[in-house]
Amino acid sequence: MTVFVTGGAGFIGSNFIFHMLAAYPDDRIVCLDKLTYAGNLSTLESVMQNPGFRFVKIDICDRAAIYRLFEEEKPDIVVNFAAESHVDRSIENPEIFLQTNILGTQVLMDACRRYGIQRYHQVSTDEVYGDLPLDRPDLFFTEETPIHTSSPYSASKASADLLVMAYHRTYGLPVTISRCSNNYGPYHFPEKLIPLMIANALADKPLPVYGEGLNVRDWLYVADHCRAIDLILHKGRVGEVYNIGGHNEMRNIDIVKLICKELGKPESLIVHVEDRKGHDMRYVIDPAKIHNELGWLPETGFADGIKKTIRWYLENRAWWETIISGEYRNYYEKMYGNRAEVQV
Ligand code: NAD
Ligand code: DAU
Repeated sequence: MTVFVTGGAGFIGSNFIFHMLAAYPDDRIVCLDKLTYAGNLSTLESVMQNPGFRFVKIDICDRAAIYRLFEEEKPDIVVNFAAESHVDRSIENPEIFLQTNILGTQVLMDACRRYGIQRYHQVSTDEVYGDLPLDRPDLFFTEETPIHTSSPYSASKASADLLVMAYHRTYGLPVTISRCSNNYGPYHFPEKLIPLMIANALADKPLPVYGEGLNVRDWLYVADHCRAIDLILHKGRVGEVYNIGGHNEMRNIDIVKLICKELGKPESLIVHVEDRKGHDMRYVIDPAKIHNELGWLPETGFADGIKKTIRWYLENRAWWETIISGEYRNYYEKMYGNRAEVQV
């Protein structure tokens, strides 16, 4: 089998590559990545010399280059992780999100139609369902929950999902879609909540919590997401959507306080700042379908996963310190420099 993994120099894609190389040593894994600010070749250093692995720097929107690579490698499976993934950046500049997340998906699927494929898998997100109210703990996102997006990011991911289903129905493309909740773990880019708070706390810098910090996310250790996608590829039904989540609801403020506790830092570092525009209140996945059909269950609980994650950031300072000392500084200044403090 030759498996194309797009966006494999990013957070989840790289963890997926490590999982696949260990689980299927006879498969060939080709990573396709544009190396945007979020892609990092040093993440893949440990597998670069693996004979079953190839890295190709490529933009999924570049139709001619993508077609050439399909012709050369003849992939059996394509797993599309490549995306602009940060909600805050999509609020600042939606256009690149529409280009990569929608048009890039279209180019990949056109290539799949042209050269033939056993499976095209779209890595989507629970954000396509919008959000749930805090006062209805009985509600969860199922695969039947209507699409109802809030940010340019989630709208672009939902658009891609609709296109994937259209290619299945119209052209018979063998597709699957997974919609996962918030991931955390090694190689998470430090613009996202958990790694940002770890990096800031270690530097005794303010911990910027948006609004009151009561928003709820359903956190899943990244390796559990990777195992779920593997199962969908090998046992999932074509044309189906699978939700992935571990029933681990946490309020942002509680996550930040826990990080302070684990690192022995004072909660006085926490600063409440101006809220994200259109901020979704609560995401929680009902994972019954993937559990009942494919037998998937998360293996890493949050108490254990957050400890492992913090240890990874302590032991791999060079990885994230290189990132935050570069272009990231301008991003941080733009996003947080003028963000007003709020009283809660
Ligand atoms: P990330 O931002 O860490 O990585 C994205 C990767 O895609 C980077 O390596 C980047 O260089 C690459 N990329 C961006 N544009 C590209 C282009 N035009 N062509 C080729 N490569 C390109 O993202 P992530 O957090 O690893 O998310 C991966 C996927 O999973 C995304 O599709 C995201 O929507 C989805 N997802 C993420 C989460 C989460 O919690 N992080 C949860 C559910 C779903
Ligand atoms: O639910 C899946 C989604 O999870 C993925 O589709 C996205 O790609 C991924 O980025 C993530 O989106 P979120 O917006 O939930 O993640 P983020 O880490 O940006 O924020 C998590 C919560 O923390 C959210 O309520 C906003 C809040 N937050 C975030 C940052 C960066 C803060 O309070 N302060 C911050 O500085």
